[in-house]
Amino acid sequence: MRSLSFILLACGSLVPLAHSLEKQPASAYHARREALAAKLQGGVALLFAAPEPILDFMPYRQDSDFYYLTGWNEPGAALMVVGGNGSTQAYKEILFLPTRNLHTELYTGAKMDAATPGVVQATGVDAVEPMTAMPTELNKVVARDRRLASSLWTQPDSQAAKAVVTLNAVTLGMDAAPGARDVTTLTMLLREVKDDGEIALLKKASDASIAAQRAMMRATTAGVTERTLAGKMTEVWFQQGCERPSYAPIVGSGINSTTLHYAANSRTMQDGEIVVVDAACEFSMYASDITRTVPVSGHFSPRQREIYNIVLGAQQAAIEAFVAGKSTINDRDRRDPNSLDTAAYNYINTHGKDLHGEPLGKYWLHGLGHMVGIDVHDPADYPAVLKPGMVFTIEPGVYIPEEKLGVRIECDFLVGQDGKLIDLDAALPHTADEVEAAMHGEVIK
Ligand code: GLY
Ligand code: MN
Repeated sequence: MRSLSFILLACGSLVPLAHSLEKQPASAYHARREALAAKLQGGVALLFAAPEPILDFMPYRQDSDFYYLTGWNEPGAALMVVGGNGSTQAYKEILFLPTRNLHTELYTGAKMDAATPGVVQATGVDAVEPMTAMPTELNKVVARDRRLASSLWTQPDSQAAKAVVTLNAVTLGMDAAPGARDVTTLTMLLREVKDDGEIALLKKASDASIAAQRAMMRATTAGVTERTLAGKMTEVWFQQGCERPSYAPIVGSGINSTTLHYAANSRTMQDGEIVVVDAACEFSMYASDITRTVPVSGHFSPRQREIYNIVLGAQQAAIEAFVAGKSTINDRDRRDPNSLDTAAYNYINTHGKDLHGEPLGKYWLHGLGHMVGIDVHDPADYPAVLKPGMVFTIEPGVYIPEEKLGVRIECDFLVGQDGKLIDLDAALPHTADEVEAAMHGEVIK
C-alpha cells in the first residue's frame, strides 16, 4: 500500500486529476471575488466548501456560492476575501486547501494541496495556503483592526465558520464572539445577473434537458411506469454531458399530476391520463428547469386540451406583459400590476371553468417562476424586478384533483441585453399539437 501511495503522490504532483466540469476562465471567478470585495465595506468574507455528502450514493456537489466565486469543485477548502478600504487595507484573496491524505487518495484519486507545484495557476486565486494557516491569516487581519471582528461575512449555516469566528475572538482575547454577517445576502445580488459564460452553460443545460424531454415524449405510453420515464431522461442527461438532475424528477400521471412536487414516480401510466413531467438537468453546475405535460395515449382529450391551452395561454400572457426593468416575478399575492404572476393569473381566472362552473384561478397554487442559475431555485429578493442578464422560469399550472387533471408548462427565459425575452427552451414543443406530433416521432417543432 505504501508503494501505491508513493506512485499516487508522484503522479498527483505531476498530473493532478482533471475535474470533469466545464469551467469559465479564471478571470471570471476573479472578477466575482473582486465584486464581492467591493460589497464588504472593508470587511472580510470567509466561505467554506461544501462538506462530503452523508449518504454513500450521493455524489459530491460544491456549495453554490463557493463554486460561483472560485470554480473549485473539491471539499475541504475555504476562501478568504479581504475588502480593501482605500487606505490602510488592500484587497486580498486566499484559497485554503486541506493537507493531502494519501490514504484517502487511494479511494478518491490524487488531490492538490497548497504545496502542489502550479497550484496558484490551477486554482486562479492570488494566493493558496494550507487550511491550517486559515485561523492565523484571519487573526492577522482582525488584529490590525479589531473593528473588523464585527465585519466578518460567512455562510449562515456553516458550523466551520461559527467555529473559526469563535476561535478568532478567543485568540484575540475578546469577551464575546460577535455574530458573523450573512455573506449569501451579498452573493445573491451578484448571482442574480448572469455573465456570458454562465449564460452559455445555462443554454447547454437547457439543450440537454430539451433532448431528454423529447425522449420522454417518445417513450410515454400506457403500461410504462413513471420511474421508467425518469430513467429514460436520466440516460439522455448523462449522454449529453450533464452531471445530475437539477432537482428530483417529477413524473406525475393521473391524480399524481395534481401534486406539485410529486416525486415517488412509482405509478404505472394508463391510457386516457395526463402526465406532468417536471424534470431537467445540470450542466457543469448550471441548472435547467423544464416542465411538459403530455397525454399518455399520445392524444389529448378535448378537456385535457382545453386546460392545456389555458395554461399555455397564461404563459403567453406573461410573456406579452413582460417589460425589462419593470416586470417582477414571484409575486405570491398577484396584486402588483407589474408582476407577471398577475398577468398569468388574470388569464387563468378568466378562461375556462371547473365542473361546478367556477373560475380556474383557485387551481393555480404556486408562484409563476423563479431565478435559475447554479441552483435551480437561484437566490433572489422576491418579488424580483427582471433585468438584462437574468434567467428565470415562467411556469403557470392548473391542478384539478376532482378531474385527476394537472397541467404545468415551464420554460426558462433569459432577459437579453436589448431587454427582450429569449426562451431558452424554444426548440421544445410548446403547443398541444406540437406535443402530440413529438410523441408520434414527428417534428413540427
Ligand atoms: N421544477 C420544480 C420547481 O420549480 O419547483
Ligand atoms: Mn421551476
